[in-house]
Order: sequence, then structure tokens, then C-alpha cells
Amino acid sequence: MAILKLFEYPHPILKQKTEKLDKVDEETRKLLDDMLETMYASNGCGLAAPQIGISKRIVVIDIAHEDEEANPIYMVNPEIIWRSDEKVCGEEGCLSVPGQRAEVERFASVKIKYIDYNGNEQELLAEDFLAIAVQHELDHLDGILYIDHLSRLKRQMLLKKLEKFRKENSGN
Ligand code: NI
Repeated sequence: MAILKLFEYPHPILKQKTEKLDKVDEETRKLLDDMLETMYASNGCGLAAPQIGISKRIVVIDIAHEDEEANPIYMVNPEIIWRSDEKVCGEEGCLSVPGQRAEVERFASVKIKYIDYNGNEQELLAEDFLAIAVQHELDHLDGILYIDHLSRLKRQMLLKKLEKFRKENSGN
């Protein structure tokens, strides 16, 4: 396994719509493994392929706490097939927008279908934090970042803080 380079805002690959995969093969599984390792190494709970510079519909998620056993979900070609009427607001962050967090409104639950690590079709009802993580990661596949859901003013404020964060953490 390998830790991959993370692509950050405003890299154009993060704005691109991604392509579906025809199948899950050895190459896909290696990519899924590397994405998971990269996500764990950055203490993230989700990672989408555009964030490592690959414009494909692939996502990994693990919302288990540090003191819990790892519980990775590998998703190829994920699709939301049902959304709850209820919505929730929760704080989100993103490995491509380092050091920042903001409140975003999402559907409280969603049902998704996807192809798993072994190439089998799966359906999953995601609720609570998993529902938020799924919607955040699937947005990445359509070139949408969580900051795109913020008002113009809030987004501008966050981007200013991002700039400051980067200056403070650039080491010079
Ligand atoms: Ni993200």
C-alpha cells in the first residue's frame, strides 16, 4: 500500500465530474487500498478519488472512532437512490480544504447503491454521521466541495482562513 498525494482546493481536478468504472479489478482494489491508507494517514473519515488526482467514481469511508475497530466501506460507482425528507445540519471538514470546518445542511438519511471491493452490488441505508459522510464524498464525484454549499459570504470568509492557515503551516 502507498500513501498518495492529496489534491487541495483550488486544484481544477476537484471541480471535474468523474467517470464510472466498467469493473472492479486488481488495479481498482490496489487504488482502494491506497486511498484507505492515505485517508487513515491524514485522520480523515472519507476520501474520494478526485482528491488523489483520479477522476473516477471511487470513494472510501470509515467513520469508526479511533478507539474502535476499523470499519472501511469501499464504494465504486456509488449512487444515491433515496433521500429522506428530513434534513440535518452538521459540521464538515475536508482533506482538500485543510484546517477548516463549517456547518452544511444534508439529508438526514440516504440510501445508496454501489459496487464493493469484491465487485458485488450493495445497497446501504446511511443515517446520522454516515449519511453526512456519504453525501460529502459523493459530492466530490460531481466536482462539488462542501464549501460550495455555503453562502458566498461564508465561503469567502472560510477561504480567507484557509489562506491564513496555509501561510502559518507552510514552514517559512
Ligand atoms: Ni472532502
